[in-house]
Amino acid sequence: MTLWAGRFASAMDQTLWDLSESYSFDHVLYAHDIEGSLAHVAGLEAAGLLNAEEGATLSATLERIRSEFEEGTFERHANDEDVHMAIERRATELVGALGAKLHTARSRNDQVATTLRLFTRDALSALARQTLELATTLATVGERYPEAYLPGYTHLQRAQPVLLSHHLGAHAFSLARDVDRLLDARRRLNVSPLGAGALAGTSLPIDPARTAALLGFDEPFANSMDAVSDRDFVAESLFDIALLGVHLSRMGEELVLWTTSEFGFATLGDDFTTGSSMLPQKKNSDVAELARGKSGRLVGNLTGLLVTLKGLPLTYNRDLQEDKEPLFDSVRQVGLVLAAMHGAYSTMTFNVDVAARAADDQLLVAIDIAEQLVTGGMPFRQAHEVAGSLVGRAIREGRTLHDVASEESAVGDVGELFVRGAALASRRSPGGSGPLAAGAQRDRLRRLLADLGERL
Ligand code: ARG
Repeated sequence: MTLWAGRFASAMDQTLWDLSESYSFDHVLYAHDIEGSLAHVAGLEAAGLLNAEEGATLSATLERIRSEFEEGTFERHANDEDVHMAIERRATELVGALGAKLHTARSRNDQVATTLRLFTRDALSALARQTLELATTLATVGERYPEAYLPGYTHLQRAQPVLLSHHLGAHAFSLARDVDRLLDARRRLNVSPLGAGALAGTSLPIDPARTAALLGFDEPFANSMDAVSDRDFVAESLFDIALLGVHLSRMGEELVLWTTSEFGFATLGDDFTTGSSMLPQKKNSDVAELARGKSGRLVGNLTGLLVTLKGLPLTYNRDLQEDKEPLFDSVRQVGLVLAAMHGAYSTMTFNVDVAARAADDQLLVAIDIAEQLVTGGMPFRQAHEVAGSLVGRAIREGRTLHDVASEESAVGDVGELFVRGAALASRRSPGGSGPLAAGAQRDRLRRLLADLGERL
């Protein structure tokens, strides 16, 4: 018998049951549901709806049910539609009529919203921490190779030399924004829906501010209808995770390229690579490919939820039950990617010489020739054309850019420009890719990461 059987003459058809039960996936919410219920019991007691003894018994019962879940001995009954009803059913089984008081002045609508906010708050904290760890690792890898450099690319064509720390710092800064976003979402979701009831509050003398404070929420809901129908916090979390996933995907794509024989800039540790079932020589960067591949479902989870929400009339509709699986999936999957990418970067070897050779490509000095002409007073457009024609000539004549440029009197002495590493060293403008700008950037990144750490 379901907990609402009083209203109906016949039992629910099995097909509807299969469609509507959510215990199979929402049982992971047990700890957060019990946390919410403990606060609710305290609230009922304060409101005089439970006496002190009843409150103590119910709280102890909830703690006992929590242990049953933790120990794996909690048994789902055939009629337990979701985790919330399973816990209430078990409480009633354990303490009889008193268990049946647990749901006083509460609906599953405010209960579910409360539980899911508590779950999401913890999940966002954990993901923010993991993301911050990865950003910190990227900064550390950069510092481990302070002089390493590689070509920076636009259109995946070699453009200008950049320090490795500068390149990895670019990813670290984007991950830092992800941490910031996750923490922002956490702050915004920290409003308690408990006490909104089914949609309109209750005639019973509860105090939502009291339970909000007990649960560590910043404030109680202002509007009961909004409280039970709002899933913005799920959508926002899914967006933050999807964008984080997109960043991880781009990093993954880059690691795939870097570890090819063609690039050869990096080698992943053996413990972060996979072999081939057929080809004995293969060392595959599956970790990076999965970081890239997982992003698809993270975006899909966001899109799916937004479509679910878009046509819903106020207030609670059963459609809202569809908020859970995408959220659980995104939280879990991005957590897996963060952990594995953290390991991949921590154990990666950067092949300093290979990358430097690629960055020492003479054609990358073309911009320095143009900028030397600019220093001599030539308008940049004209300087660009002179340097471009030197590049064209070098390629056509099969000679080095250095040789061709040396013959061009307008350019002056080019010797210095072609010294190994000069094109990197001359990128000295603030925030630029050369060693002169590196220190300030490193300090700024470290400060940013420390500030985010404080906010965790
Ligand atoms: N499992 C449901 C959910 O996740 C519980 C809420 C059911 N509420 C209701 N009024 N039928 O949304």
